[in-house]
Amino acid sequence: MIRNDREGAMRYDITNIAIEDYLLDLMPPRDQVLTELEERALIHGLSLVGPVQGQFLYLQALNMNARKTLEIGTTTGYAAIYLLRALKQTGGHLTAIERHPERVVLAKEVVASAGLNEYCTIHSGEWSTIMPTLDHDFDLIFLDVLRSAANEGQATQALELCVPLLRTGGVLIADNVLCSAQVLEDDAPPVVRGIQAFNKRLMSHEQLESVIIPLRDGVAICRKRG
Ligand SMILES: C[S@@+](CC[C@H](N)C(=O)[O-])C[C@H]1O[C@@H](n2cnc3c(N)ncnc32)[C@H](O)[C@@H]1O
Repeated sequence: MIRNDREGAMRYDITNIAIEDYLLDLMPPRDQVLTELEERALIHGLSLVGPVQGQFLYLQALNMNARKTLEIGTTTGYAAIYLLRALKQTGGHLTAIERHPERVVLAKEVVASAGLNEYCTIHSGEWSTIMPTLDHDFDLIFLDVLRSAANEGQATQALELCVPLLRTGGVLIADNVLCSAQVLEDDAPPVVRGIQAFNKRLMSHEQLESVIIPLRDGVAICRKRG
């Protein structure tokens, strides 16, 4: 089941919704940039990572001293702000991809208003077109489009485009890999079948070492082997 929480982020009770609320209540208050995005998401039904996973991304980027970072599926820049706040400290740069032009405009405004413009480039368009044009050697890739796949094969296609873009030792983080627990279904719809195939592929991928964590809607963390 999916519900919008009071921060505007989707909530997915794949584990225990009371635990999700507990974790959320422990989070320190967000600044105006993030709270405005949370309110906008609530009004417009946008799906954002929310404060707990945002903090998770921030710490991952900071802990690995990520510099060259890519976000695929940026919406209005909420997760991007968490990543950029880490990248500002590491001297890094975020390349972001979003297909809705009006979301790109808003994300650019948000990043600018947060004073993070110089650390970010946002591309408007389809990831399948833009990713093959990017330089390689990303330290960190955040893949957040799995629920929007156009067909059963697209999730795995995205994975196969991410792997060559990562440097050796680089990290891929993918969101929604448990898809509201629909991955448990034998007769799932095509998008979910695509995520099931994605999970199988990343757990057996010869170039990746991976784990799936039941955080929020399921987060995969993969490290590219040397
Ligand atoms: C789950 S939302 C991303 C949320 C964002 N990462 C955050 O937490 O702030 C997914 C976004 O990916 C975008 N998207 C979906 N399919 C895409 C595609 N094929 N190419 C580019 N963007 C896409 C959608 O428009 C949507 O804004």
